[in-house]
Amino acid sequence: MKVDVLLGLQWGDEGKGKVVDYLATKYKVVARFQGGPNAGHTLEFDGIKHVLHQIPSGIFRFDIKNIVGNGVVLDPVIFKKEIEELSELGLDATKNLYVSRKAQLILPTHRLLDAYQEKLKGNKKIGSTLKGIGPTYQDKIGRQGLRIGDTEMDSFEERYQELRDKHLSIIKDDGISSKIQELEPQFYEAIDYVRTLQLIDSEYLINEELDKKASVLAEGAQGSLLDVDFGSYPFVTSSSTMVSGACSGLGVAPSKIGEVFGVFKAYCTRVGSGPFPTELFDETGAQLRKQGHEFGATTGRPRRCGWLDLPALKYAIMINGVTQLFMMKADVLAGFDTIKVCVGYELEDGSTTDKLPYDLVNQSVKPIYKELIGWNDAMPSSANYDDISQSLKDYVQFIENEVGVPIKIVSLGPDRSETIIRVCL
Ligand code: GDP
Ligand code: IMO
Ligand code: MG
Repeated sequence: MKVDVLLGLQWGDEGKGKVVDYLATKYKVVARFQGGPNAGHTLEFDGIKHVLHQIPSGIFRFDIKNIVGNGVVLDPVIFKKEIEELSELGLDATKNLYVSRKAQLILPTHRLLDAYQEKLKGNKKIGSTLKGIGPTYQDKIGRQGLRIGDTEMDSFEERYQELRDKHLSIIKDDGISSKIQELEPQFYEAIDYVRTLQLIDSEYLINEELDKKASVLAEGAQGSLLDVDFGSYPFVTSSSTMVSGACSGLGVAPSKIGEVFGVFKAYCTRVGSGPFPTELFDETGAQLRKQGHEFGATTGRPRRCGWLDLPALKYAIMINGVTQLFMMKADVLAGFDTIKVCVGYELEDGSTTDKLPYDLVNQSVKPIYKELIGWNDAMPSSANYDDISQSLKDYVQFIENEVGVPIKIVSLGPDRSETIIRVCL
């Protein structure tokens, strides 16, 4: 069997959590391959809403192995809290949860460094979730990070203190010693807890499962436009959010990748700073935010909203080799007389392009829009694609024609049940 990869094609929050939970019954293993607690993946079913940050979104499906892969940066304090919250709901997540020994550890000082570095950036700040993601990946690449497997070694505490002191020497803040004294007891407690979990060499488990013909779904976090190489740099996250990130973040060869599921919203949102060509600053943007409940699942910040950006979507499809598209939140567009879709950009020199320009930070581009007719009714009485309104079908058809990849799932609500399978997957 192969590893199917599911990833976001925009600036995150496309609805990955919902669709992973929906698809998980088809898989034996669900594995997160990058990011960390900056992610907020929402699942809704049986009238309850769950937001997962580090636990893979297959956790609510019976008998599926959920793996936190080596490409992830893991905050033990948040992880412990997440597992405990599930336990309060009667779900013992620890039974089916495995953590790669090679996943990097987020230390309390990584979070403090994140806040410090953002403050130094002033009005050039990234708008980070301040979960310590950037500093932890910096230490990984700088070859001085601590990994989950290190917690099993006698030298762990000494190595932790050494790295902590290195971090503290960077932060120029008088109150820093008292802050760390406040955070450390929780951290040590969480480390003790993590030691009791199933810490494994997950690259072996995944490849052995594949050899046994088990199906594996790799769950991406963030989105392609936040990718450290191909996103709107420097307003990006610090990991590879792409399909290749699934190979390096799980230890699977490119030849073992199967389907690439690209998840996108029927419009666009972004949280944090950085370029967003189709952003709407008017009533329409506010309406999208209201109808789509566009507030961050991790930080609660209002999400910036705008129309669908096809050049950006095509770019994300190209760099990931997407084989199937899932369109989310089409219900949010219900009630608009017309819906705009960006098909190209006008550059500052007056020329036009349908490619994503290298520089979107210092150069402002003007979207070129095509208008389509809107729809009123979103969810049809049956979960049958044929029963959805003709203008929504036209919208789906238009996007497919433009990008050349089939849209196989249309999601029309946050609940598991509000999902329409268009073509047999
Ligand atoms: P993720 O980070 O990609 O998993 O997405 P988030 O959970 O951060 O944000 C997606 C939000 O949209 C969540 O509140 C979901 O419950 C919600 N959602 C997902 N799919 C749909 C949909 O088709 N329609 C509506 N209205 N909401 C949806
Ligand atoms: P999910 O998995 C949306 C954004 C932050 C910020 C930038 C860098 O839920 O889609 P970081 O904390 O990584 O240093 O922040 O990336 N960001 C996200 N935006 N969804 C996410 O994850 C995000 N994770 C990070 O807002 O602009
Ligand atoms: Mg999210």
